[in-house]
Amino acid sequence: MFASWLKSSNDITAQFLAAGKLPDMVNLGGGLPDAGLYPETEIKSYAAQILYGSSSEWLEYAPVAGIASLRQAIAKLETENGLASAPENILVTSGGLQGLSIVGQAFLDFGAPAAVQSPAYLGLIDAWRPRQPEWASFNVHDTQALKAAFTASNLAYLMPAFANPDGACLADQELEHIVQVAAEHGTLMVEDDPYRELYFDTPTPLSLSARAKAAGLPYLHIGSLSKTLAPGLRAGWINAPAEIIERLTLVKQGSDMTSPGLPQLLAEAAIRNRLMDTQLPKLRAAYKARCSALLNALDTHLGDWFEWRAPTGGMFVWVTSKREDIDTTKLFEAGLKHGVCISPGVVFDPIGADTKTARLNFTFNTEAKIEEGVRRLAKAVQDTLR
Ligand SMILES: Cc1ncc(COP(=O)(O)O)c(C=O)c1O
Repeated sequence: MFASWLKSSNDITAQFLAAGKLPDMVNLGGGLPDAGLYPETEIKSYAAQILYGSSSEWLEYAPVAGIASLRQAIAKLETENGLASAPENILVTSGGLQGLSIVGQAFLDFGAPAAVQSPAYLGLIDAWRPRQPEWASFNVHDTQALKAAFTASNLAYLMPAFANPDGACLADQELEHIVQVAAEHGTLMVEDDPYRELYFDTPTPLSLSARAKAAGLPYLHIGSLSKTLAPGLRAGWINAPAEIIERLTLVKQGSDMTSPGLPQLLAEAAIRNRLMDTQLPKLRAAYKARCSALLNALDTHLGDWFEWRAPTGGMFVWVTSKREDIDTTKLFEAGLKHGVCISPGVVFDPIGADTKTARLNFTFNTEAKIEEGVRRLAKAVQDTLR
């Protein structure tokens, strides 16, 4: 009855999303902002102005490419972040994820190779799976693997700033090298960039897309306000040369016609009122402290079994087991019994083979809860080794 690609969809994501909501479960598995830090008061006041104002624009079908004032606001935001943009470069999407899905539909023929930075964002794997791509996974730090993947595919998915899941943030030299390889092979880069603003101390290097544009190359920059404002607004975008946006707008039209108007107007008000200027320093300080708490707890409780690299921003610490006998898919199950939920590495592997790694989130919980979660995880490791 169902299309054949559905046979290969992952069911573990739903399991860990459900597990994360159980009472008394410490959820280190999700990728959620801290709900206590949402700018609720400001958003409510924008909503009141929109709902009780004289325009009923929010009740109408919005233009397919997005409400004009929001396209303009996003173009300004992108320009401030180093990627010079005009409204015609912006396609408003329902979250960054819809942007990725639209790109997959527009550029991937069925069964075509897709170069994917791995470990990969599992939403990307889910979004592109219906195209049944031949996954050409590459480690972004391995120049040979990168070249091989860019040779195999004319579309490459990258997360240069605080990758999900492994938290890696690429330096200027690596970014320049990637643009050069893309230019040599004619590869179109899909830069997925929702975490750029969540650095702890040092601002994130210029995006791949800004560098590609400066070099006269095409680019696809996928942005989102989910991690900096609120995921419930589903405010995302694709930034690309205008002729590409025109074609992608046709794909969006066949997908949901238009993103809902009210969240678009809320996102526009937030950008216009420069809400991020007050919001981002709060998030950076809170997340830096929580990341430290997680790293300290890991040192105390898991240092014999796992290794990791301290991130400089983003939302995650990526741990890799030092021992052959630790299987993180089994550890995920054992963790649930001990009241802690993690994301096992298997869900970030396009071919589902990784059993050595796991992603731990530090943004959602308080420092005390993070410590408790890691303590429980250590007990779960002991269980799996028995
Ligand atoms: C790497 C990456 N890309 C895109 C997204 C999509 O976010 P949204 O659709 O909420 O904008 C996420 C969310 O977790 C992510 O981690």
